[in-house]
Amino acid sequence: MEQLELIFRRRSIRRYTAAMPDKHTIKLLLKAGMAAPSANNIRPWHFYVLRNRERINALREFHPHASMTAQSPLVVVICGDLQRQPHPGYIVQDCSAATQNILLAATALGLGGVWLGLYPREARMEGISKLLNLPEHMMPVSMVALGFPDENKPPHDEWYPAQVHEEGF
Ligand SMILES: Cc1cc2nc3c(=O)[nH]c(=O)nc-3n(C[C@H](O)[C@H](O)[C@H](O)COP(=O)(O)O)c2cc1C
Repeated sequence: MEQLELIFRRRSIRRYTAAMPDKHTIKLLLKAGMAAPSANNIRPWHFYVLRNRERINALREFHPHASMTAQSPLVVVICGDLQRQPHPGYIVQDCSAATQNILLAATALGLGGVWLGLYPREARMEGISKLLNLPEHMMPVSMVALGFPDENKPPHDEWYPAQVHEEGF
């Protein structure tokens, strides 16, 4: 796949087959997350890999827009270690960059995924922290539901000129 085509072909995929991606594929997804740019190169992210059906089903008890996890065989939760944050706010950006890399890698590997927001929704952050028994300093930022796609979506081809500015407003 052409590099730029990969960016445009990434879409939120919310229907999956039952097949579980193999260990090698899951490692590649996480390596892609770890290849993301990181403020001060601190790389504060931690990735929690969920394959247990009961645990995945429990996500929907506190996340109102995660109905696709009833099908997704795999969920990766992306958290940041608050003890390794050079300046407040960078953790969210580091974890978001990692999240996007995972989604792009999933597309490249023939998987489909969708970003599920956790931060800054306090009830969701509290819910996932309890479910995974996260330590106090581990801040949940996002989740990605993943699996082999059972739907097709067209690639992006949008252009928003009103949101492009030369030099200043
Ligand atoms: C921060 C963030 C939070 C999101 N949260 C959810 C979510 O909770 N549930 C969901 O189905 N999609 C969620 N999405 C996916 C967006 O709905 C999706 O990216 C958007 O509709 C554009 O579609 P596309 O990803 O196919 O380009 C989220 C995306 C981002 C960036």
